[in-house]
Amino acid sequence: DKSLPKAIRIKLDNTDPETIKLGDGKDVKGTRVRIFGRVHRERRQKENMFITLRDGYGFMQVILTGQLAKTYDALTLTRESSMEILGELRAVPEGAHAPNGRELHADYYKIVGKAAGGDDAITNRVSKDTDHATLLDLRHLTLRGETASKVMIVRDAVEFAFNSVYKELRMRKVSPPALVQTQVEGGATLFGLPYYNETAYLTQSSQLYLETCLPSMGDVFCIEKSFRAEKSLTRRHLAEYAHVEAELDFITFDDLLEHLEHVMCRVLEVTLSDPTTKQYILDLHPEFKMPERPFLRMRYSEAIDWLVEHNIDIEEEGEAPRPHKFGDDIAEAAERKMTDIINRPIFLTHFPAEIKAFYMPKDKDDPRVTESVDCLMPGVGEIVGGSMRMWDYDELMAAFDREKIDPAAYYWYTDQRKYGTSPHGGYGLGLERFLAWLCKQHTVRDCCLYPRYFGRCKP
Ligand code: 4AD
Repeated sequence: DKSLPKAIRIKLDNTDPETIKLGDGKDVKGTRVRIFGRVHRERRQKENMFITLRDGYGFMQVILTGQLAKTYDALTLTRESSMEILGELRAVPEGAHAPNGRELHADYYKIVGKAAGGDDAITNRVSKDTDHATLLDLRHLTLRGETASKVMIVRDAVEFAFNSVYKELRMRKVSPPALVQTQVEGGATLFGLPYYNETAYLTQSSQLYLETCLPSMGDVFCIEKSFRAEKSLTRRHLAEYAHVEAELDFITFDDLLEHLEHVMCRVLEVTLSDPTTKQYILDLHPEFKMPERPFLRMRYSEAIDWLVEHNIDIEEEGEAPRPHKFGDDIAEAAERKMTDIINRPIFLTHFPAEIKAFYMPKDKDDPRVTESVDCLMPGVGEIVGGSMRMWDYDELMAAFDREKIDPAAYYWYTDQRKYGTSPHGGYGLGLERFLAWLCKQHTVRDCCLYPRYFGRCKP
């Protein structure tokens, strides 16, 4: 009965108000809702108190008025305290700003868990003045910040998009082991560990296992952790990273490039189709634009010429800088300079065999180079590495020999070439690097929940 005073109306209304997440609900006059969340910000204005509550689904401004703003709990309210609040959602007055243009007029609230205050207040432990190493030790708290949480929420959406795009392509997801006996990308970055009575390694890539699935499962993919004992601190190297890998059967090198371009663009489309995720990406990366298709295709030899023309030298330790020449590994800094100047995605192809992994086949028309590709993105550089795979048994055995790798431990891999071999290829995409590009983060470390890299294995 609208003629009764509001407090009595509420008492008489014995229906439990609907619990909503902070991004949901409509500001229909007279509708009460219940919300839960943590105090993201709070301020007093005259007699009233304004609280911005956060629950991982959105933010909501809550206004406490009258006696509600004068209680002991309100007067001593600390940031990050968790609360239950009931009230009516209304549009904010003309000229005022609040998330989604609305605010909750509270008529009841309860502190669920009071956050520490004083010296121990979260604002004293994590602030603009906190040094970098301490912030990293306090990752569990910095994750509550807007930037870190938006990156993590975008990460969830991107990972989901990879799954759904691969499903659109009828690819099957598998889960290869993390504990292995074989290297894929060179012995220098293998993490070894005692494994019962033998030594095992943490996997560098699931590629070889994916290859074994093709004969009976069709095209496959996985999203697993890969591990690299990288011994330098860079913006884009982690010791543990999320590796999106796929393997395709009966394809050509051109098919591989086309597939890769399709997957990357379709993943972006699917990710951006959710309005919240799209908004978070634009908050983090305001000038983000969908990449132009087709991606620029550039052969390794053309990249070497480009670097020479643009006076970007190779700088090797203990040596004077000199122009690049065919056969040089293009270092991270040079690669990034080139990608930033060209400023669009590049498929860099046909690398010399000497600087690539043992399993990459030679190009029929130019035996100096392999059917290999790196995808380079502005701001980050390489985010994908892929290639066709040697599918001839003798050629593969010769490659093991050349690289001085004992093929014995790879019997399960070389058997693929004995029992109905086929032309196939695949790639690995570093999820944190893809996110560093998409969310415009300076380093891949900020694209992981709890980054692991040289010198850091906590929290
Ligand atoms: O180029 P990489 O080493 O290729 C492979 O591992 C292949 N076996 C993958 C395959 O064909 N299935 O690594 C692939 C990608 C890189 O382009 C990069 O994005 C990422 O993995 N990556 C790293 N990301 C973060 N930290 C590291 N230390 C990384 N090493 C590689």
